[in-house]
Amino acid sequence: MLVDTHCHLDFEQFDPDRDAVIRRAVDAGIGYFVNIGSTLASSGAACKLAAEYAEVYAGVGVHPHDADSFNQETEDKLRELALKNKVVAIGETGLDYYRNLSSEACQLNAFNKQIKLAKDLNLPLVVHSRQAEGQVIRVLRSAMPLKAVIHCFSGDEGFLRECLSLGFFISFTCNITYKKAQGLRDLVKLVPLEKLMLETDAPYLSPEGFRGKRNEPAQVKLLAEAVSLTKGISTKEIADTTTGNAKDFFRLG
Ligand code: NI
Repeated sequence: MLVDTHCHLDFEQFDPDRDAVIRRAVDAGIGYFVNIGSTLASSGAACKLAAEYAEVYAGVGVHPHDADSFNQETEDKLRELALKNKVVAIGETGLDYYRNLSSEACQLNAFNKQIKLAKDLNLPLVVHSRQAEGQVIRVLRSAMPLKAVIHCFSGDEGFLRECLSLGFFISFTCNITYKKAQGLRDLVKLVPLEKLMLETDAPYLSPEGFRGKRNEPAQVKLLAEAVSLTKGISTKEIADTTTGNAKDFFRLG
């Protein structure tokens, strides 16, 4: 069994065939999906999917891209959503200084508020970090103790080692299969198996051979094979361990 620990099945890209996508993934051996919210509306949709499908769990949060809109009302509504059945994480939240779609001040505010929410409710945090590694580590370090996963890992070795030293989990997406991603594959080798999780971030980041197409959770299987090749560990052991990690971390099942 495999787990897609970060996907966006609520996105409109899945409107025409969402049910078929989920069935296809279940048939491919994906036992659980964590559908991650990116806005208040998307977090609500994630909760709906979790109510509808036994295999789907929800994360509720506001992505750094949408941090400009984060206010007291957003915070109150997120807290309400977070108390719903099958909500297993706060996120995604974090800092994105690559696209800077929201101001740095608003991103920091939304990040800090969501960290507090995660701690108040004893839920793990799903962290998005892009070209903001130094600041992300400063914020997370000052909030310890904290249970967190750094999703779609894209930092350097120094950032990776800091995250591991704080006990965080690291999750990789299908972009490790790209021809030019040797640097990322080198980092995959450095992550202890007991700290590793798998995710598609679907509909984004389709694996090599499928680039430009919509990604979907069934591709976690291909990702597990890529991690197996990279680490020189059997696909079965990768699947068993990352599934165990995901079930413990998100308290699935
Ligand atoms: Ni995402």
